Amino acid sequence: MTIREWIQSAQARLLGVGIEAPALEAQLLAAHVLLVDRTWLFAHAEEDFPELAGEGLLQRRLAHEPLSYLLGWREFFGRRFLVGSGVLIPRQDTETLVESVLAHCSQSRSDELSILDLCTGSGCIGETLKLELPAAKVVCSDLSDAALRWASLNAEHLNVDVEIVKSDGFQELGDRKFDIIVSNPPYIGVHESLPEEVREFEPSLALFAGDSGLAFYQRIADEARGCIAPWGRLFLEVGHTQAARVTELLKSFDWRPVQTVPDLAGIARVVVMEAGEWS
Ligand SMILES: C[S@@+](CC[C@H](N)C(=O)[O-])C[C@H]1O[C@@H](n2cnc3c(N)ncnc32)[C@H](O)[C@@H]1O
Repeated sequence: MTIREWIQSAQARLLGVGIEAPALEAQLLAAHVLLVDRTWLFAHAEEDFPELAGEGLLQRRLAHEPLSYLLGWREFFGRRFLVGSGVLIPRQDTETLVESVLAHCSQSRSDELSILDLCTGSGCIGETLKLELPAAKVVCSDLSDAALRWASLNAEHLNVDVEIVKSDGFQELGDRKFDIIVSNPPYIGVHESLPEEVREFEPSLALFAGDSGLAFYQRIADEARGCIAPWGRLFLEVGHTQAARVTELLKSFDWRPVQTVPDLAGIARVVVMEAGEWS
């Protein structure tokens, strides 16, 4: 079977189980098996394809295992983050969160800023910020050992100097003070419906936060008060219907609203708050 024939057949089978971009995915899987770039395939379409290796990978995708877990990476902010079982796959929406922090830092002093990426997962937020703001001191924390392993792997692979800490919420962060606390915490209600590939394959610790999805924001609203520097800012990604409720929740803990930031679809995705008088 040639590369072209394998891609055509894989595309049809992916389409058959409802995969949204079957042509692109078939090409990415073929390129992954052959350890080449996708563009290489077009110039070598009539060469032989190792069907057996391709079939193993294709079967996993037909069972709805996420493509990024099969490829072993996901692009975020123009860089490849390594991912696999046990860690949330970075989402494009989360780039809005990173951009919001960068926009704020471009208006303030950018040297010596201390930044906490709470619930770091793969490290995509904190490590991107450190790469974009080399003078900042960045701590990446998470409760999951698997996530922390991926964050460490990414720090090594991207050659970025961040401190990685295991912590349940703020518990292990002691009395440290951060100028910026940024987080994409779990925010899905336990009864919400999710695509099979998310619910079955991505870690539930990364997804769910009580009945309403707001449980972790409640924790941050309270516990972040002990870790924020005077006039420090909190940047939170929120679910697509949660911005107003999260803002109210934080206000009830005396955080001051600064702004909400929309994603590319115009949906309020980031809530920015400032520390109150108590900081
Ligand atoms: C929505 S994921 C975000 C991952 C990553 N920051 C991203 O944007 O792709 C939430 C993360 O919160 C972590 N987490 C869940 N409960 C936690 C807790 N009690 N303390 C610290 N981290 C927690 C999960 O392990 C997961 O990595």
